[in-house]
Amino acid sequence: MARTDPHSYFDAAQPRTVHAELKWDVDFNAKVIRGVAALKLESPSAGTMDLDSRDLLIAKVATSDGRPVPFSVAPADPVLGSRLRLILPQDTEAVVIDYETSPGAVALQWLSPEQTRGRRQPFLFSQCQPHHARTIAPLQDSPVARITYDAEVTVPDGITAVMSAGPQGSRAAAGNKRLFKFHMPQPIPTYLVALAAGDLASREIGPRSRIWAEPEVVEAAAWEFAEIESMIKTAEKLFGPYEWERYDMLVLPPSFPYGGMENPRLTFLTPTLLAGDRSLVTVVAHELAHSWTGNLVTNASVEHFWLNEGFTVWAERRILEALRGAAYASMAQALGLAALRQAMSRFGENSPLTCLVTKLEGLNPDDVYSEVPYEKGSLFVTLLEKTAGRDVWDRFIRAYIARFKFTSITTDEFLVFLEHELPGLAKEVQAESWLYKPGLPNNAPLPKSHALDAIQNQARGFSGGRKPSTDEVTRWAPDQLLLFLQGLPRPLPKDECAWLAEELNLPNGRNYEIVVEWLSIALASGYEPAFPAAREVLSEVGRMKYLRPLYQAMASTPRTRAMAREIYAATQNKLHMLSRQVVESTIKEYPPD
Ligand code: BES
Ligand code: ZN
Repeated sequence: MARTDPHSYFDAAQPRTVHAELKWDVDFNAKVIRGVAALKLESPSAGTMDLDSRDLLIAKVATSDGRPVPFSVAPADPVLGSRLRLILPQDTEAVVIDYETSPGAVALQWLSPEQTRGRRQPFLFSQCQPHHARTIAPLQDSPVARITYDAEVTVPDGITAVMSAGPQGSRAAAGNKRLFKFHMPQPIPTYLVALAAGDLASREIGPRSRIWAEPEVVEAAAWEFAEIESMIKTAEKLFGPYEWERYDMLVLPPSFPYGGMENPRLTFLTPTLLAGDRSLVTVVAHELAHSWTGNLVTNASVEHFWLNEGFTVWAERRILEALRGAAYASMAQALGLAALRQAMSRFGENSPLTCLVTKLEGLNPDDVYSEVPYEKGSLFVTLLEKTAGRDVWDRFIRAYIARFKFTSITTDEFLVFLEHELPGLAKEVQAESWLYKPGLPNNAPLPKSHALDAIQNQARGFSGGRKPSTDEVTRWAPDQLLLFLQGLPRPLPKDECAWLAEELNLPNGRNYEIVVEWLSIALASGYEPAFPAAREVLSEVGRMKYLRPLYQAMASTPRTRAMAREIYAATQNKLHMLSRQVVESTIKEYPPD
């Protein structure tokens, strides 16, 4: 047995899938996908082959030339789901599996028309990372088992289907349906298989980029993300050629649980990025950067997730530094550091979950998701860059990507390559303690600048009565304001909340980072004038990053604890399963009085 990933039944000693042909019929009424997955093997094989599945109804398995394939579905493991074991007859070239998903498939969220902007059509979207692709198709669902894929997706007339693949046109199909075809020629980890379907419109916004969204928001989205081509060009200069032909983006309905998801050729984005001033395009820079770090060079398992996210946060900030200057990038680093410190104190400084390389057997990756691999990872890469020197490091990064592109690697493989290219560097920066020890090493390259110090001092002095002047405040960029708010103590006295609301015009902001930071201060301070706005955000938005601090602020304060439960009870039906889990675990920490 050669299992390499604690979150998959994939066995490297068994036959391996190299290509999937997916035929999916999307049934919005039953909330299921009825499908056929034809998995083509690397070479004709026989014997045992284990696939991942969860909540799938497997109707039939046969070889591509029609011979029956005996199979068994094991009882579900709470983290991994059900092992689907196939016994392949001699010379099996491909297996063809007829199956159906369940309405509870974790990777899928089904929205009623009322949960969309246009309220005309239902909407469906997938979120497969980290280990949920197995809820929409039986697969070797580990990032080391890369596949190419073709798909034919049938949806009701009036609905448009998009995927993380090249679109190959559509045609009318029987029963008032439409069939959309897709082709993904580059090998990807299965967590990057993605589908969305709904009332979608699109606009070209660059020579290789198009924005998809509901018709009501497509114009706003086209404006917000208009810088995309200059971002791609900047990234290509830093990291090498863009290998995925198109970089399109899809703006989802507000219940999308993440800020962004780097589905290849079609990044998925939360509509909360539409601030109206391009102040949140950092998330786009991040998802774009994954086109190199993450999608070309992929973590071999979630235990090496920092290889995806740490490198990508570092890369995102290099793109932003090139486009907006060093001051902007250091502000982003400072915000990141604050998030890292919070995450570390949530786990405890000595928790193994604050290591970059983690041991996650038996744990659900969604439960341990945090800023640690992002921000500690990015600090580590920044330290390598500073120690090697920028020119040397930039050459290394391009060599690293060229060497490992379209493969999935472990931290050890990275370290071997690093030692080969830049001997001694790992030792010099104490890589061992960064990777395998908890907490933040004391050689961390912490962001420093006058602008930063000034804002943090102002935040610290605020409650002592030193208020920034109106003049100053109006000159602050969104990130400066955010940093200021983050630095404020809480709870704050009511009159100071009122001062913030008034002087900073907070109730009218459209930047969700700022809105949510303000509301979490207001909630933690029991500042009632802000309660209706908090309720509104919580009944609109499903991004987990925003739900956690708002519910945390409410639930940790006895006066608003009941309100937290009441808002959740009223809104949970609209939330994604993952978002629900986050809210429930946040509220659970504070039992009712
Ligand atoms: N790949 C992640 C999202 C993800 C991670 C989904 C793990 C499921 C499991 C994506 O690239 C991401 O990091 N999104 C961030 C954006 C931010 C760091 C700029 C988010 O959603 O907040
Ligand atoms: Zn990411």
